[in-house]
Amino acid sequence: MALVLENIRISTNMYLMTTDHSGPCRMGQFYMVRGWDKYPLLSRPISIFDRDDEGTKFLYRVVGEGTKILSQMKPGDEIDLQGPYGNGFPETNEQEITLIGGGIGTAPLYFAAKELKRKNPDINIKMYLGFEGEDKAAEVFSDLDAEIIVKTSGYITDWVDYENEKLIFTCGPEIMMETVCKKAEPFKSKVYVSMEKRMACGVGACLGCTCATKEGNKRTCKEGPVFKGGDVFYEQA
Ligand SMILES: Cc1cc2nc3c(=O)[nH]c(=O)nc-3n(C[C@H](O)[C@H](O)[C@H](O)COP(=O)(O)OP(=O)(O)OC[C@H]3O[C@@H](n4cnc5c(N)ncnc54)[C@H](O)[C@@H]3O)c2cc1C
Ligand code: FES
Repeated sequence: MALVLENIRISTNMYLMTTDHSGPCRMGQFYMVRGWDKYPLLSRPISIFDRDDEGTKFLYRVVGEGTKILSQMKPGDEIDLQGPYGNGFPETNEQEITLIGGGIGTAPLYFAAKELKRKNPDINIKMYLGFEGEDKAAEVFSDLDAEIIVKTSGYITDWVDYENEKLIFTCGPEIMMETVCKKAEPFKSKVYVSMEKRMACGVGACLGCTCATKEGNKRTCKEGPVFKGGDVFYEQA
């Protein structure tokens, strides 16, 4: 069990929760989060937004029962965090990297940017963040040591300079990530996507989070959530 230290609303339906949980983790991993007793039955997968001396932070959007309960939690409340789970984003020796996030898919990219910089202070990070109509959400990214491009309307994928991007990490709606892969493909950029399939167990036991790839079906919680972008068969919206 961890304790909620802070839980603040940062835009219309997005919240930032700080917990006192610590321990080793990798960029792009997630926790199965539970802020309730019996209902809803299943814990919910939420990415690591940040990990520092204070603890672990989660950026989340209220979309249903589970995230609504999370949004009502107060400092001092107990929260169950199982994890960290998943493979996370790969380590890199590249000197330049591009991070592309759409909506709540931006959440794992904050910690990715921080970790990339901690391991290589000279790396140049370009971050493209798309927040449809949520102009305050980008403020939580503003302290990163990165060039940050924010759009609150239109497609964030239209703004990326694909020709000059060698390595891309992306997370967001599948259609957005598929577009990134298609646009980057002619330039042979390496693209890694973080898939947000619905999950039940979170530990590889139920096959509820299957992602179709060129190498067969993979469990998003175990072999993912990060996959090579060109390997995934994206679901059509
Ligand atoms: C690896 C991973 C990391 C994630 N990281 C974050 C994060 O950092 N912050 C965050 O806010 N969310 C994140 N999500 C999504 C989050 O898990 C869901 O939004 C959450 O489980 C919804 O729970 P709920 O009870 O509030 O909504 P539900 O009542 O379960 O669902 C409400 C609505 O949302 C839809 N929905 C639920 N889950 C998903 C999903 N995974 N993909 C698409 N639609 C969905 C349902 O179909 C339904 O229409 C992540 C998901 C995965 C798999
Ligand atoms: S959620 Fe059960 S196998 Fe992935």
